[in-house]
Amino acid sequence: MTSTTSLFASVEADLELLSKNLKELIGARHPILHAAAEHLFGAGGKRLRPAVVFLISRATMDGKDVTARHRRLAEITEMIHTASLVHDDVVDESSLRRGVPTVNSSFDNRVAVLAGDFLFAQSSWYLANLDNLQVVKLLSQVIMDLAEGEILQGLNCFGADLSMEAYLEKSYFKTASLIANSAKAAGVLSDMSENIQEDLYQYGRNLGLAFQIVDDILDFTGSEDVLGKPAASDMRSGNLTAPVLYAMEEEPTLKQFIDREFSTEGDWETALALVRNSQGIERTRTLASHHAKLAVASLQSLPSSPSRQSLIDLADYVVSRIY
Ligand code: IPE
Ligand code: IPE
Ligand code: MG
Ligand code: MG
Repeated sequence: MTSTTSLFASVEADLELLSKNLKELIGARHPILHAAAEHLFGAGGKRLRPAVVFLISRATMDGKDVTARHRRLAEITEMIHTASLVHDDVVDESSLRRGVPTVNSSFDNRVAVLAGDFLFAQSSWYLANLDNLQVVKLLSQVIMDLAEGEILQGLNCFGADLSMEAYLEKSYFKTASLIANSAKAAGVLSDMSENIQEDLYQYGRNLGLAFQIVDDILDFTGSEDVLGKPAASDMRSGNLTAPVLYAMEEEPTLKQFIDREFSTEGDWETALALVRNSQGIERTRTLASHHAKLAVASLQSLPSSPSRQSLIDLADYVVSRIY
């Protein structure tokens, strides 16, 4: 299996600089907000989204170096992502993220909501300073989509009649929109044609869907130690994902446990075993592979280069990742 380390080797220096810049960009205006943000950027994540921005930037710059604007876009992308995680952990009442306690558990919900807002606001400010209206529109849409995704998920809580289409739509809002729109924005900053911009958007959209679908599998198959965040928590909190939707087709009894919100002793354990022993996980993997293949197909219009190859390999990594 490929690791992100070897996959991102060609942009490792870019990612190092990004991590350093992110800490500086947060600033130190308020000690608690600073501590909250520092805490997360210090812990570090996989940096998948900025890596995609850098790889696309390199793949579209015809051998020339990436510009300061590409770099700033990558930083904004990671800032928006981190802000969404800080809020997501409040909504999910989650206590662990990137292997360290979440902002809501280290401080409290109030601080976490404000810290997330602060990061969103700061990303908007840096975005405006890129002075590119098209990029501003693309990334502002993402911030709206993220909120809509969390709202859709909240509204569908324990809704066992959720359709696969609605699940994918929610996953687009929560996860794929950011990757799609930042991928397209990187193409905009490289002055790519509208057709190529659309291909980059489709690459990001499908990569993002595959990534979230696999994340939803890992919630059933992974451990807290490996993932650096709580496992087996989606279904319990009413977030019904692809493995559950498929398992319900095979095991209609699952629905009754979900309908009564696992209120009878042993419900949740039984439901978990039903999902894990069904074809649900395998079928979900097939769904993720389908989107990863679509992502790769969208790269055909780019000239071949080591960066384009890394973008292709990234799609494979996303479906085979274990954390
Ligand atoms: C977590 O994203 C949220 C999802 C979309 C599943 P990542 O798994 O990319 O989180 P970090 O940035 O590596 O912590
Ligand atoms: C993805 O949702 C988080 C966002 C994109 C806001 P999840 O709830 O599945 O993410 P994890 O599992 O907490 O990382
Ligand atoms: Mg969550
Ligand atoms: Mg998850």
